[in-house]
Amino acid sequence: MAPTPPRTLPASWYTSTPLHQLERRAVFFKSWYLLGPIIKFTPGSPVFYEFAGINLTVTATSSTTPNRQPKVEVVEDATGSPLPHHTTRTGLLFTTISPTAAPDFHTFFPGLEETLSAVDFTARPYRRSIAYEGHFNWKTMVDGYQECLHCQYTHPAFSVLYPPTFYAVKNHRNWSQHFADPEKPDDGLFLYLLPNCTLNVYGGGMSLFRVCPTEDPGTTRMEFDYFNVDEGEKFEEYYRFVRQVALEDYALCETAQYNLERGIYAEGVLNPVKENGVAYYQQRVLEMVLEQHQQDRQQARAREAKVAAAAISAIKHEPASHGNSIPNRTFVEASA
Ligand SMILES: [Fe+2]
Repeated sequence: MAPTPPRTLPASWYTSTPLHQLERRAVFFKSWYLLGPIIKFTPGSPVFYEFAGINLTVTATSSTTPNRQPKVEVVEDATGSPLPHHTTRTGLLFTTISPTAAPDFHTFFPGLEETLSAVDFTARPYRRSIAYEGHFNWKTMVDGYQECLHCQYTHPAFSVLYPPTFYAVKNHRNWSQHFADPEKPDDGLFLYLLPNCTLNVYGGGMSLFRVCPTEDPGTTRMEFDYFNVDEGEKFEEYYRFVRQVALEDYALCETAQYNLERGIYAEGVLNPVKENGVAYYQQRVLEMVLEQHQQDRQQARAREAKVAAAAISAIKHEPASHGNSIPNRTFVEASA
């Protein structure tokens, strides 16, 4: 019998506010985020980020470490708490958004640092950032990033450079590597990092983007950072090309979200080969949400048991002559 193909998350996961809030605690608080190459951070110029409602500030405190990479501090704005962060050997800065909720970097992204060590991330100067909101859920955009079935008709110019015939995705725990051509594994580096960061390095250029959820499950803030060895017109040429691809994805996501919100699409099957990236990350989101839901229920049960135990204890210690003894005794019997 043929194996059952993976299924998508239901459409309600793209529109429901309670689920959106549960994802915030289940997925976002427990994850790591790519902030960028360490060269983006210079003393005296703090950089601000917001992930799942948590505002944080990155400050470079010195540029005198032995490998000439600046030392940085990452602090949660609301509490002033320092947040666990990690700089990889080849110069990429990652952070958490909770002082305690996420596991350590290597447990969350096993094997990632080895893959990143093939590229010197300090070699491409920072050129430009752009941010704007779109009417789609954060997963609508990640769904599109994690497969390339849409590439041929959505990205005609990109498809000439990277024909989707060869496209493949390899999943690791909490991250996926994309191969435009598996025969040439060193041709560029394209990574998805759960939950909402991507890294795209090819030629002399590098872009990273963050798919940031807002309070509204149907609105997402897209943030892009661009780095390139080229400047001037050569950089502008690269920028026009990557912006064209980004805008094509944007239009696709707004249409997909429109269909999700109007019940045109409920749920379906995924191609186990061509959409293995989508299947993998959606499964991780599902697992993390179910785990959180279970933890919440256990905590609620423990709280209820504590309240009931305190009530029973209060009744037992009450003097027998108290006017309320009869109803209380009835309560004890009913609870036994
Ligand atoms: Fe795309």
